[in-house]
Amino acid sequence: MTSTVVVGAQFGDEGKGKITDFEAEKADLVVRYQGGNNAGHTVVVDGKTFKFHLLPSGAVQGKRCLIGAGVVLDPRVLKEEIEKIGEIELGIDPRVQIIMPWHNSLDGASEARKGDKKIGTTGRGIGPAYADRASRCGIRFSDLIDEEKLKKRISEEFPIKKDILEKVYGITVDFSEESVFKEYSVLGQEFKSMLSDVSLEASKALNDGKNVLFEGAQGTFLDNDFGTYPFVTSSHPIAGGVFTGVGLGIRKLDKIIGLVKAYTTRVGEGPFPSELDGELANQIREAGGEYGTTTGRPRRVGWLDLCILRTAVRLNGLTDIAFTKLDVLSGLDKILICTDYEIDGEKFNEFPHALENFAKAKPVYKEMSGFKISGKEKSFEELDEKAREYVEFVEKELGVKLSFVSIGPGRKETIQR
Ligand code: IMP
Repeated sequence: MTSTVVVGAQFGDEGKGKITDFEAEKADLVVRYQGGNNAGHTVVVDGKTFKFHLLPSGAVQGKRCLIGAGVVLDPRVLKEEIEKIGEIELGIDPRVQIIMPWHNSLDGASEARKGDKKIGTTGRGIGPAYADRASRCGIRFSDLIDEEKLKKRISEEFPIKKDILEKVYGITVDFSEESVFKEYSVLGQEFKSMLSDVSLEASKALNDGKNVLFEGAQGTFLDNDFGTYPFVTSSHPIAGGVFTGVGLGIRKLDKIIGLVKAYTTRVGEGPFPSELDGELANQIREAGGEYGTTTGRPRRVGWLDLCILRTAVRLNGLTDIAFTKLDVLSGLDKILICTDYEIDGEKFNEFPHALENFAKAKPVYKEMSGFKISGKEKSFEELDEKAREYVEFVEKELGVKLSFVSIGPGRKETIQR
């Protein structure tokens, strides 16, 4: 039996899809524990690209996939993704919160009202859906699949949300209580057979010695508590989120794989000390295809930042690191790594808890030689010596083995160490 969690160690988009897919091959069960269709996982198999927002990446492997209570689910997106993939064995926890049309409208309206103080959300209704969960007025999967309950819950929620949208934000609501019920009750009936107590199913699978893979979305520094609040998402991507997001007692997870991209990217607003601009940023952005899978927004790009990574190792208890997109840096003359921050003249080597300090952190860089990667290297030893130096330096600084080094988008372009 192994329990494995795959978690983003930076700001999301570290290339989790590929490693999750890799790990899913060995799994009996793949479980998502947080987030919603704000995520974007890309998996390339035999030259075919699969993009998911909501379904666990394990879906490509034909494995049974579960959506845990910590997820917010947009049934319209679920329908689309199921149609795209065809066959899927999916279980959805009754406690999963449903993203309703008013959540999308509220997300957009609240961002627009914030103006230049906006978070830069994906606009998928994630924050408002989690806010309703905390306010105890969310609609859950158990409501969605029961027509009577759904009707009642929509009749309770719709007038309030309509008032907020129209009276607070001055937005015209283009859906009615009836139209929402009509559409969502059909979706609910379609997904009814997928009901599963995910907490029970996942616990049983672990107790029965099965291999369970927990799939995180977003990244450590988008965690609602431990990230760059308020420039964060509304769930808990960190590994601890597995226990509350699935409903498991605290237990040792065998492998906690942190995904680390060989450089840093971020979408949305918020401080980013090692951020690059100009030609070099464009070059890396283009080479790495750094455009959001969900929104298509160009990602902000910067050098690798060891300070946030040291914190990510600690917050997640990482046992392994999967180092991704090393090939993207191929051909650069020199590569910088942020090893420390200087904040008000003092040196720090971890992520500071105060956002204002993170915002004024000046990166202290170590310069390393550039390298070339062809993508055809089959082992670590075959890599350019300077590329190995880069990997080994990061490994030494973080004290965690870089067990996977990814040198291209395909499944085969992964070196296991
Ligand atoms: P939300 O999750 O849509 O509310 O967005 C909150 C913040 O998290 C924004 O900065 C988004 O760009 C960011 N975010 C959400 N999901 C992802 C993701 O999967 N990858 C990277 N950033 C994300």
